[in-house]
Amino acid sequence: MVESASTHARLMRRATFRQLEIFEAVARLGSFSRAAETLFLTQPTVSMQVRKLTDVIGMPLFEQVGKRVYLTEAGRELYATCRELFRTVDAFEMTLANMRGLRQGALHIAGVTTAEYFLPRILGHFCQRYPGIEVSLEVTNREHALERLRANLDDIYIFGQPPDDVDVEALPFLENPLVVVAAANHELARARRIPVERVAREPFLMREPGSGTRLAAERFFAERRLAPRVRMELGSNEAIKQAVAGGLGVSVLSAHTLRPGEGDLVALDVIGFPLRRHWYLVYPHGKQLSIVARTFVEFALRDVEVVRHANK
Ligand code: PGA
Repeated sequence: MVESASTHARLMRRATFRQLEIFEAVARLGSFSRAAETLFLTQPTVSMQVRKLTDVIGMPLFEQVGKRVYLTEAGRELYATCRELFRTVDAFEMTLANMRGLRQGALHIAGVTTAEYFLPRILGHFCQRYPGIEVSLEVTNREHALERLRANLDDIYIFGQPPDDVDVEALPFLENPLVVVAAANHELARARRIPVERVAREPFLMREPGSGTRLAAERFFAERRLAPRVRMELGSNEAIKQAVAGGLGVSVLSAHTLRPGEGDLVALDVIGFPLRRHWYLVYPHGKQLSIVARTFVEFALRDVEVVRHANK
């Protein structure tokens, strides 16, 4: 329907939103009585409102053939206009709901320990953008994060490898290379293309049972029928880094745990490394994510570029 601004204004002054809603229902259902039923109105009310709208438009909107009503050409145009209008109003309502939801709310995240090297930065940006949202981050190892996931305690989980025994959605969002770390003054520090058998002969510092990093390292060696010489088990990436720097042995860690400028550690050039892995945003399959959680997922997928850049 092509209208000048003044016709538009005239139409909007005289036709009510309710009349358009009633007209749309009659047009869609092809019946005054069914429209009345759907809208919980009496049939005379529906007929009267359509009549008033017809007067405003100045052209018949329906023609009756037997029991069924058909749209006239003007009716078809108005019907298309109504659909468009209602779609726009729906979108506006959704935006309003989102704005309300994002002005306040809570977001619970559980991430495996290595996530603490990059996740707080993403959360920092997220909190700046949505200051009303309260964020909690539970940092724990893979096994505990899995327990929390099974108990549905958090909105989003961060894993270095999606769980295989729980049905989940897992979105890869950042590379997570695992490297062999050694003290900067280690005899292999400058060696090139070190065979993994050589690494397996070094004293090895292993993360605690339940750690995803440990799982990945164990798998890597097992697939090559090798077993690292575990000298010590330590319960955190930082403890391992300190022990490696202190010359107690080598280890396999996420490259994210190594800060630029930390001169006392090096990543060794070992054949087969880095192990190519990813960080995943994970939530139970079928879980209805809150607006806040959904927004965070989209935000993290975008913001990750910033983190990638900062880690270079
Ligand atoms: P972790 O997890 O902190 O349990 O070792 C890291 C990972 O799963 O990659």
